[in-house]
Amino acid sequence: TVHPIILCGGSGTRLWPLSRKSYPKQFVPLMGQQTLFQACAERLRGPGDNPFAPPMVLTNAAFRFIVTEQLAAIGIDPGPILIEPDGRNTAPAVLAAALHLSASDPDAIMLVAPSDHVVPDSAAFHTAVAEGVRAIAERNDLITFGITPDRPETGYGYLQLSTRPDGNGKAQPLGRFVEKPDLETAKAMLTDGSYLWNSGIFLFAVRDILAAFQTLAPELLAPVRTAVDQAQTDLGFLRLDPAAWDKVADISIDYAVMEKADNLSVVPYSAGWSDLGSWSAVQELSDPDDDGVATSGAVTAIDCRNVLLRSEADAQELVAMGLENVIAVAMPDAVLVASMDKAQDVKQAVTALKAKG
Ligand code: GDD
Ligand code: MG
Repeated sequence: TVHPIILCGGSGTRLWPLSRKSYPKQFVPLMGQQTLFQACAERLRGPGDNPFAPPMVLTNAAFRFIVTEQLAAIGIDPGPILIEPDGRNTAPAVLAAALHLSASDPDAIMLVAPSDHVVPDSAAFHTAVAEGVRAIAERNDLITFGITPDRPETGYGYLQLSTRPDGNGKAQPLGRFVEKPDLETAKAMLTDGSYLWNSGIFLFAVRDILAAFQTLAPELLAPVRTAVDQAQTDLGFLRLDPAAWDKVADISIDYAVMEKADNLSVVPYSAGWSDLGSWSAVQELSDPDDDGVATSGAVTAIDCRNVLLRSEADAQELVAMGLENVIAVAMPDAVLVASMDKAQDVKQAVTALKAKG
């Protein structure tokens, strides 16, 4: 069986005002009825005819009841829910999950799944995971899932293929892993054609990832191990020990392990993936009409082109006239009106509001 490890610690400030510090984007219904977190858990639902164990969830204390409520609402009984005293990014979270799993099942395979991605084709995703499991049995690699890039995105990791992608979705050894390149490097890699984006979804055997941490990030091992060993059970949650966690460095798994590892493989994935990083990504995925008008809630659009219009409050009418390339998101207590070109900069709004206090 594959153990899903769902990561939900992020804040997603580029999707303000829908995504809030106290209620980040993975927990709000951005696309359709379900939240991204629920869709993620649904995709990894076992046992049925897929091989998944109940999901382990890693999150922080503020979100623990949102997690249990949202899983209960779709009838999913989770595995352990680990509470991080503080966000330390993904490397400590993944390491804590691996250590916790290794206590009960050192042969386990874990699937690290960010909770805030859109992966529309579950069947294709299961096939890709099965291919990863096969590759692990063959050569004990750490498996990444690669997406064909269509722009020089600097917010992603890049995976260098050792052979040209041929569309068969078979795992292949990775050349190198480059996390969040600068624009020039990203452009060069896009032109080069032998790079895929790192989806941020990973698959590995518990023993292989522990060995990788031991070699590549040994300083994380002792404090995270103590935090797991001394974790307290609290209302069914497993709360990592705060004193030990305090000594844990803040670093992503991409920098701590993936960029340095020499046993990486990639399963190319072409059935659709988005990390829904900004409102323009939401617009593209929200079924815009022929004029590029995407709406949600009580919205009336007259003579608009290439807009995203969302009214998030009950019966709050949003009427837009003659707009082009505009994002408008109306919440009961906050409204964003922005040029579509500024989609990547919405986090500045959050910074500006924080400064106002
Ligand atoms: N539990 C927990 N604790 N989860 C966390 C934490 C944490 O401290 N920090 C982040 N996460 C979760 C986020 O909620 C998200 O689901 C996932 O881990 C990845 O973190 P991000 O902060 O969103 O990473 P990123 O988007 O900058 O980069 C990663 O994803 C890209 C694809 O979306 C990298 O893996 C890139 O290489 C990749 O291209
Ligand atoms: Mg992300």
